[in-house]
Amino acid sequence: MSAAVGIALTGSGAASPARVVTNDELSLWLDTSDDWIRSRTGIAARRIATADDSLESLSSQAAQQALEQAGWRPDQVDLILLATSSPEDLFGSAPAVQAALGASNAVAFDLTAACSGFLFALITAAQYIRSGACRRVLVVGADLLSRWVDWQDRRTCVLFGDGAAAVAMEAAPEGWDGLLTMVMRTDGRRRGCLTMAHQVTPQVLHDHLHAGFGGFRPIAMDGQEVYKFAVQQVPLVLTQVLEQAGLTAEQLDWLLLHQANERILASVAQRLGVPAAKVLSNLGSYGNTSAATIPLMLHEAVEAQRIRPGHLIASSGFGAGLSWGAALLRWGRPDAT
Ligand code: COA
Repeated sequence: MSAAVGIALTGSGAASPARVVTNDELSLWLDTSDDWIRSRTGIAARRIATADDSLESLSSQAAQQALEQAGWRPDQVDLILLATSSPEDLFGSAPAVQAALGASNAVAFDLTAACSGFLFALITAAQYIRSGACRRVLVVGADLLSRWVDWQDRRTCVLFGDGAAAVAMEAAPEGWDGLLTMVMRTDGRRRGCLTMAHQVTPQVLHDHLHAGFGGFRPIAMDGQEVYKFAVQQVPLVLTQVLEQAGLTAEQLDWLLLHQANERILASVAQRLGVPAAKVLSNLGSYGNTSAATIPLMLHEAVEAQRIRPGHLIASSGFGAGLSWGAALLRWGRPDAT
C-alpha cells in the first residue's frame, strides 16, 4: 500500500482497577459457576471498577505511560483519540485525558465503536499522520462496562471487565510503516444483536410540552448470533489484510484479537492456520474489556518482551454495531529493530 507518511507505534501503557472479581465470587449472587464460565469463555477473573475508580483517570494513567515509553513531552502530542462506549461525560471524556496529561497543544475527542473502537481509532489516527495533519497521536481504548451491565443477567455480566490502555503513534522516517494494511466494516442491520440502548423517561414540563429525559438500558446481547458473526467475519477481514499486504499467515509473529471469548480466538486462529503459540490471550485475567482489550494485551506482551520491535501482528476488533475490522501492524520504530 502506498503511504504518504509512514506510521510508527512507539509506546504503550495500561491501567486497570485494582479490584479482582473471580468467577467464584460472581456465583455468590448469580446462578453460575466457575466451570461454566471458564469452559464457555476462558474467563477466570475480571477487574471491576469501584466507585473510587474513573475511566478518565485510568485512561490518563495508560496514556501517560504510553507517552513516556515513546519519549515524548506532553506538549508534543497533537491528537488524543479516546475509544470508549462508557464515557463519564457524554460530551466526551478525551478532554479530561488531555487536561490530566497537560497536553496543551493537542486536540482530544472520543470515538465510539464498541469493541472495535480501539482498532477503528488506531486506523483513524493513522490518517491524521499520513495526511501530515499530526505527528504524534495517543490512541486510548477504555471501557468500564461493569457500570452498564445488568448484574442479575448471567448471560452477559460474566463476560465483561474494566480497563484502559493506550498506544503512542507517530510519523515514521521514510521506508517504515507500522500500519501496513487495514479493513473496517459495519452492518447496522444487525445492530440489535448487542446493544446498550437509549431509554427515554417521559417528563411533562407543562400541559402542552411532554419532553423526555435520557438514559440507557443495560447491555443486552444475543450471544449465539454474536459468536457466529465473529467466527465467520473475523477470519475474512484478517485474510483480506494479509492479501492486501502480499503476506501469508505463516509470516505473522502474533495474532492479536479482541479478547471476547477463548473459543472465538481458537476458531479464528484455526481458520487462518495460526498456531496457538502465536495467539495472544489474557482473557483469563481480564474478561472482555471492550475497547481496551487489544491495547491491554499489546501492552502486556510488549512489557513481557514477547512483542518486540519489528514484529508483525495481525489484529482484529469486533463487536456491537455490528462492527469489525482488521489491521496488519509492525511494532516499534525502525532504529530499535
Ligand atoms: N452461567 C451458567 N449458565 C449460563 C450462563 C452463566 N453465566 N449464561 C447462560 N447460561 C445458560 C443458559 O441459560 C442456557 O441454559 P438453558 O439451556 O437451560 O436455557 C445455557 O447456559 C446455554 O446458553 P447459551 O446461550 O446457548 O450458551 P452458549 O454456549 O451460546 O454460550 C456465550 C454463551 C455468551 C458464552 C456465547 O454465546 C458467546 O460467547 N457469545 C459471544 C459473546 C461475545 O463475545 N460478546 C461480546 C462480543 S464483543
